[in-house]
Amino acid sequence: MIAYYNGSYLPVDKISVSPFDRGFLFSDGVYEALRTYNRKLFMIQNHLDRLRYSIEQTNINFTEFDKLEKIIFTCAEKNNIAKDFSAYIQITRGISFPRTHHYNEHIKSNLFVFTTELKNREQELTNGVSIILERDIRWNRCDIKSVSLLPNVMANQNAFINGCYEAVFYRDTFITEGSHTNFFAVKDGKVITAPLSNFILNGVTRNIVFKLCNENDIPIEESYILLADVFNYDEFFLTGTLTEITPVVKIDNNIIGNGSPGLLTKKIQKLFYDFVRSY
Ligand SMILES: Cc1ncc(COP(=O)(O)O)c(C=O)c1O
Repeated sequence: MIAYYNGSYLPVDKISVSPFDRGFLFSDGVYEALRTYNRKLFMIQNHLDRLRYSIEQTNINFTEFDKLEKIIFTCAEKNNIAKDFSAYIQITRGISFPRTHHYNEHIKSNLFVFTTELKNREQELTNGVSIILERDIRWNRCDIKSVSLLPNVMANQNAFINGCYEAVFYRDTFITEGSHTNFFAVKDGKVITAPLSNFILNGVTRNIVFKLCNENDIPIEESYILLADVFNYDEFFLTGTLTEITPVVKIDNNIIGNGSPGLLTKKIQKLFYDFVRSY
């Protein structure tokens, strides 16, 4: 695979990253994940806005947002990717020696980009997935798309070894989001998801769900789904750039409804693909 690193397109085994890169030493970096539909980058402006937010919040020295789209397509071309693909952008603060927590404000950031062909998720999208609930042990700035993802990795691995697609976090009494997705519930025809705060990522797909519900007279509200109440809801789904709108049919081994994706979930999924086609 050929990837981009700091101005060069190289086979990944020819890219050398300094062990003094602060991303390696401190997880001092941020990232974005995008995808194409019909070979066009979907919601690129929203992803770039969120990347800008992560960069500003962490005070990383990076301004080359305008170059990213070109870099992504060049990576796809160099890998002869003919189908739709996902793109990963990572910006770490840069290299500093000796290892100190504080940094020089002028340090040069390191940019890494790669693209991969998308896998077929037809089965999960049609039949729904199982999830587990996990205590949210993450930090208090989940609004920043930081590469520091160890709690997400641990939770998702736990989901994976239990045959589940996702681990959804709860913090004290309320549910926040998944390890790499936003989480929605449906009750009596109303869609509910956690409010935007420092406890969740401002998901691009989450915002599309709000737009689609508002345009189609589907009631939607931001409020916390309480852990104690979770089994009183009718339907659940996950959202994310690569997850799209994925129905949830089992939580902690409890079958939801009749074990098939809910009707409103399927309606929102359809509205989502209509939106994708019109994009
Ligand atoms: C923690 C977390 N929440 C939510 C999402 C979904 O965000 P988006 O719809 O922008 O992909 C992601 C995506 O990577 C994520 O990592």
